[in-house]
Amino acid sequence: MSTRPADQELNRETLDAVLKRRFFYAPAFEIYDGVSGLYDYGPPGCALQTRIIDTWRDHFVLEDDMLEVDTTMLTPHEVLKTSGHVDKFADWMCRDLASGEIFRADHLVEEVLEARLKGDKEARGIKEDVVEDESAKKRKKKVKEIVAIKLDDNVKEEYETILAKIDGFSGPELGEIMDKYKIVNPVTGGPLEKPMEFNLMFETAIGPSGKLKGFLRPETAQGQFLNFNKLLDCNNTKMPFASASIGKSFRNEISPRSGLLRVREFTMAEIEHFVDPLDKDHHRFDEVKDVKLRFLAKDVQSAGKTDIQEMTIGQAVETGLVDNKTLGYFLARIYLFLIKIGVNPDRLRFRQHMSNEMAHYATDCWDAELHTSYGWIECVGCADRSAYDLSVHEARTKVKLQVQQKLDAPLVEDKFVCEYDKKKFGPLLKKAAKPVEEWFESRTQCELEDLAKALEAGKIVLPEIEGVEVAGTELDKSHIKIEKKTITTHVRDYTPNVIEPSFGIGRILYSLIEHCFWTRPEDASGAKGVLSFPPRIAPTKVLVVPLSSQKELAPFTQEVSKKLRQARISAKVDDSSASIGKRYARNDEMGTPFGITVDFDTVKDNSVTLRERDSTRQVRGSIDAVIAAINVMTADDVAWEEATKDLTPFDSTDKE
Ligand code: ATP
Ligand code: GLY
Repeated sequence: MSTRPADQELNRETLDAVLKRRFFYAPAFEIYDGVSGLYDYGPPGCALQTRIIDTWRDHFVLEDDMLEVDTTMLTPHEVLKTSGHVDKFADWMCRDLASGEIFRADHLVEEVLEARLKGDKEARGIKEDVVEDESAKKRKKKVKEIVAIKLDDNVKEEYETILAKIDGFSGPELGEIMDKYKIVNPVTGGPLEKPMEFNLMFETAIGPSGKLKGFLRPETAQGQFLNFNKLLDCNNTKMPFASASIGKSFRNEISPRSGLLRVREFTMAEIEHFVDPLDKDHHRFDEVKDVKLRFLAKDVQSAGKTDIQEMTIGQAVETGLVDNKTLGYFLARIYLFLIKIGVNPDRLRFRQHMSNEMAHYATDCWDAELHTSYGWIECVGCADRSAYDLSVHEARTKVKLQVQQKLDAPLVEDKFVCEYDKKKFGPLLKKAAKPVEEWFESRTQCELEDLAKALEAGKIVLPEIEGVEVAGTELDKSHIKIEKKTITTHVRDYTPNVIEPSFGIGRILYSLIEHCFWTRPEDASGAKGVLSFPPRIAPTKVLVVPLSSQKELAPFTQEVSKKLRQARISAKVDDSSASIGKRYARNDEMGTPFGITVDFDTVKDNSVTLRERDSTRQVRGSIDAVIAAINVMTADDVAWEEATKDLTPFDSTDKE
């Protein structure tokens, strides 16, 4: 077993207690009452995160020969202004002027409607998290008033339709929904202001003068776009190729909640795959075409439904559900990665963004969502960002961010071309001549056709052009000619499109923990939690337990530890006086897949017992043979049956 059985409900209280007791992670600055949305990872959480990242690197960077970069988190205002984040990277919030509380509008609507649908008087799930407050104490405020409202069937259907489309509403639309369904402050029952936009970036100033405004980056992507030309060079100017980056990003979330799922500082792993817009095939697509995925298409959601269509990625691309093979390749690779680290495939779906939900830079987007006790959570976004980012940075900096492709055969085309009369154009426009020329050169063919017509009819009246005051200036044929000519080109310049899989490591880590957590039947000591991480992902691989504290066992315990260290297998020794069953049980909740017991037979014949966490079955063999078996199970994902086939089954006396 590696995930919780379908018939066992997650016991979140038990899980939370384990995560806290074992210090997987904890609120940062806890002894100062904490700050919402900031967490520290303890030893097992930190090791788990490292394992996930290592696997990510192997699975993506190594496998597809990606170019990994590590770029700075501090980003000047100008870069994020150009990328659109300054103007558009915002969520909708609404304030209660009387109490000062602030809510994220879409989440509030979602939670209140869900709570009403459940008819849940206590509105569980809203209680602790919805309130924006810096202090952990205040966050525990109780919801005073969510009245169980009797809903008739029509209203229920309206609620369900709204919930299916919840990610796609604008602020004003959310405001209308709040008015219509009388959604107020669930804590006080007081009225709320209309939703307002709140930019999610943390602002700062770079340097002592305070003049250079900047932000902590909200995504790692921009650093990759800005280095495009260097990366293309690193790839010997060959297309397509991908860059990758792992690092922290920062978002000043309106209401951080649900533990690691919505935080203000988190590790992202992002891939930017640069591709020719005219050819979005992928040379390795055939390797994944038979991978079956569960899709939730945008049309289904727009109709207020959540029905899943299951099909292979090959079929999805063929039928046009997924736009192209490169996007399809990455969806399948994301699936294979998530399964490899231990995610339950039955709790994984790919949801397509609705058109009005997409980020400002995206033209198509699919999220890999994992089902948790907090509902379906977006853990990986996979967006087609088209040529958006490279184009806007090129337009702003005037540095060409394009690929030059040598054509097999010359391209002959009729095109509108501008010719400037230097003697008249320059003196008329003076300093503005160059920017105006650039303006003409950046027009599309359709625009040039219109300008040619205007010129033919007498004159072109210049519009507003950024940075120069030329609006209203008139040009005639003595200044400029715009004519169709036959042009032969041997190269093609194009701005690549970008397919971007973007992973939130903390969300994946927490969802994985939930998928892997289950409890053995209760006994007198209560339910026993087990975290069934796959061996390669587990924070620690082996628990070494000497059967007794008698001195004669110590050298063997040390030998086992040393040999594990030499094999680079992480291990812990538990030589406490607790019963062996207790020691194993303690360790099962850390997710350690293997236990080695050193006992009095070890002294006689150098043999040890190897225990498997999920089944608790045991085998016996020499220290070296047992370590070799562990090695192939952790490093190469070899199954227990195969890895231990030469070891002797051991009848357990391990009473747990
Ligand atoms: P949401 O809609 O849940 O706010 P998003 O659409 O803003 O998420 P993206 O901008 O697509 O998320 O970010 C890419 C990935 O980064 C997400 O799939 C998620 O795993 C992660 N992520 C985004 N915001 C957060 C956050 N506040 N806390 C933890 N992880 C996050
Ligand atoms: N880079 C993708 C995102 O931040 O959503």
